[in-house]
Amino acid sequence: MALNHHPQNILKLVMAIIGLCLAISDHINLVQGELQTLTHHPVAKVQDSADGLLSFLVVGDWGRKGTYNQSQVAFQMGRIGEKLDIDFVISTGDNFYDKGLIDEHDPAFEDSFTNIYTATSLQKPWYTVLGNHDYRGNALAQLSPLLKLKDSKWVCLKSFILDADIAELFFIDTTPFQDNYFTDPGDQVYDWRGIFPRREYLSNLLKDLDMALRESTAKWKIVVGHHPIKSNGHHGDTQELVAQLLPILQANDVDFYINGHDHCLEHISSQDSPLQFFTSGGGSKAWSGDMSAINSEATKFYYDGQGFMSMQITEVDVQVLFYDVFGRALHKWSTSKWLYSIL
Ligand SMILES: *[C@@H]1O[C@H](CO)[C@@H](O)[C@H](O)[C@H]1NC(C)=O
Repeated sequence: MALNHHPQNILKLVMAIIGLCLAISDHINLVQGELQTLTHHPVAKVQDSADGLLSFLVVGDWGRKGTYNQSQVAFQMGRIGEKLDIDFVISTGDNFYDKGLIDEHDPAFEDSFTNIYTATSLQKPWYTVLGNHDYRGNALAQLSPLLKLKDSKWVCLKSFILDADIAELFFIDTTPFQDNYFTDPGDQVYDWRGIFPRREYLSNLLKDLDMALRESTAKWKIVVGHHPIKSNGHHGDTQELVAQLLPILQANDVDFYINGHDHCLEHISSQDSPLQFFTSGGGSKAWSGDMSAINSEATKFYYDGQGFMSMQITEVDVQVLFYDVFGRALHKWSTSKWLYSIL
């Protein structure tokens, strides 16, 4: 028999075709490098689920084994975190000074993180990105699943999406954007594993972000990175991000960009769009008096001491607060979207 129509052989052929299709689609996913999506549904909060309140704290530039007021900031975060019944914490990077972690077994992980943020209210997921100082150590160590075994609240990826129902948060790996880390690294050695070819890494990341933002149906879109787009602090604006990232945020109606890197707390508004810029980089050593002051007309708040930020989000409004080392509210700002939702 030349043609074998035995059902078993047809089944084998179908299985082989399905297998081939799966292999191809796997490959396509790999090539596109789509951003991994985590979900955070605040279902555990019974009393809040009715009004759909999402709240979290933001801290950056912190890991100094408790010194430079890191422990004081941590204590106040615990207090405010309890008061606001937070869902999670965001770390804007520079998690471990001065050169990230040596490896997964580096005791700095416990000394600067687990043994510092001990309050009950802070035992929530910490959604974390890497800063330039983290890249000066073993950058991949901070992404290791071993750290999550040591401390289950640690969630660190290079770039990822967090779906939290009413808000969607897009975490972006901003360090590889900055040209002078590559062209003029000085004495610094960066762990660029996984970044090369750099041009492709950056263009894939921006393409994936653009696509994910365009597809997002969340009420509030928030982008988080280590480096500021706009800042009055020591580092000032990051030109690479102004040129490459900002147009994507504006084109997709992103509400907020949140960052660290400059060791201060600040709020800068936009002249030409509703986009707000928040810097929360006051987790430990602050740079008092070190300003570049180039966004003065749009600056709503600037504080050069230590502290952190909170954000409370509902379907219709958002409230942002900045706090100092004594837990005092320094700046309060809110916005509402209810007018748009009626239309
Ligand atoms: C700790 O915070 C206080 C109050 O802002 C400040 O006066 C002091 O200089 C800070 N200490 C350090 C080491 O940064």
